[in-house]
Amino acid sequence: MEKTMNWNELGFNYIKTPWRFLVKWQDGAWQPGALTQDNQLTISEASTALHYGQQCFEGLKAYRRKDGGVNLFRPQENSRRLNNSAKRLYMPEVPEELFLSAVTQVVKANEAYVPPYGSGGTLYIRPLLIGVGDMIGVQAAPEYLFTVFCMPVGPYFKGGLTPTNFIVSEYDRAAPMGTGAIKVGGNYAASLLPGKEAKEKNFSDCIYLDPQTHTKIEEVGSANFFGITKENQFVTPSSPSILPSITKYSLLYLAKNRLGLETIEGDVYIDDLDRFTEAGACGTAAVISPIGGIQYKDTFHVFYSETEVGPVTQKLYDELVGIQFGDIEAPEDWILQVN
Ligand code: PLP
Ligand code: COI
Repeated sequence: MEKTMNWNELGFNYIKTPWRFLVKWQDGAWQPGALTQDNQLTISEASTALHYGQQCFEGLKAYRRKDGGVNLFRPQENSRRLNNSAKRLYMPEVPEELFLSAVTQVVKANEAYVPPYGSGGTLYIRPLLIGVGDMIGVQAAPEYLFTVFCMPVGPYFKGGLTPTNFIVSEYDRAAPMGTGAIKVGGNYAASLLPGKEAKEKNFSDCIYLDPQTHTKIEEVGSANFFGITKENQFVTPSSPSILPSITKYSLLYLAKNRLGLETIEGDVYIDDLDRFTEAGACGTAAVISPIGGIQYKDTFHVFYSETEVGPVTQKLYDELVGIQFGDIEAPEDWILQVN
């Protein structure tokens, strides 16, 4: 049974839930892990995660079904992406079995914190892999910690399915052959100042352009971008420096196979926004957040409306969220039932 909480008023904030999973990689192997109630990590001051950013993370959610059970959405994809991040940062991979077991144990142990069906809330799960131990040279850490913790969350951008506005940043979040395509803390550190500047101007967040030519949309600091054209095409940027969003790939599949849209992964030029009738940001935390308008230099471009969600975005949202909460049949292997 769920805890008593103001489920409808949840934002995207840290809440300490009772249990997290912690496992150490030592002497060249993953040691036995366990659930723990301690939310503090004690690590060496010389940990590579602190000095050289040798760390990566994931984000996924657990969804309360109408029958009271709990669904995970495509957790195997998060496991795969974590291991791509680990490989690029020269860290040991976390076996899929260990990843899924840790996630499942944490959700089960904190089941009372999975928000009720219909509240709009979900349980956000954060797997984290960090280099620890004594190492001051720029080298891979001698030891690693993998932890998974979770908390109930509401909408990431205020308003949820209500459109909000974004501004194009003059900064880059990732280099062309750098780490944009993996989920590492450094990308997010680089996005903090641009994000703050955008919020100070009353935008939800910024949109980054491709770091090589600054002519094409890459993504939002915390979500991928998509647009719907007048010809009913679902278009999303293709670039080696954006995070391969699991939500985005799910939407590409659903747009094509369930909504009958043509789908395109390609260039999205910032001076050609007129081709879109609707636009949105998509991700685990963002779900689908409609984009009202985009400020680019002195021009403010409105897509469908600054106050109302467009019809195609609404259909995509209903399909995706319906699948996640177990109301609509999922494509094979998209849902892992925790109970
Ligand atoms: N892009 C960035 C930079 C992100 O942080 C996220 C969030 O994980 C996404 C895109 C969306 O990815 P996903 O749909 O896998 O959550
Ligand atoms: C997610 O959607 O899981 C993210 O990681 C985005 C943000 C909270 C960093």
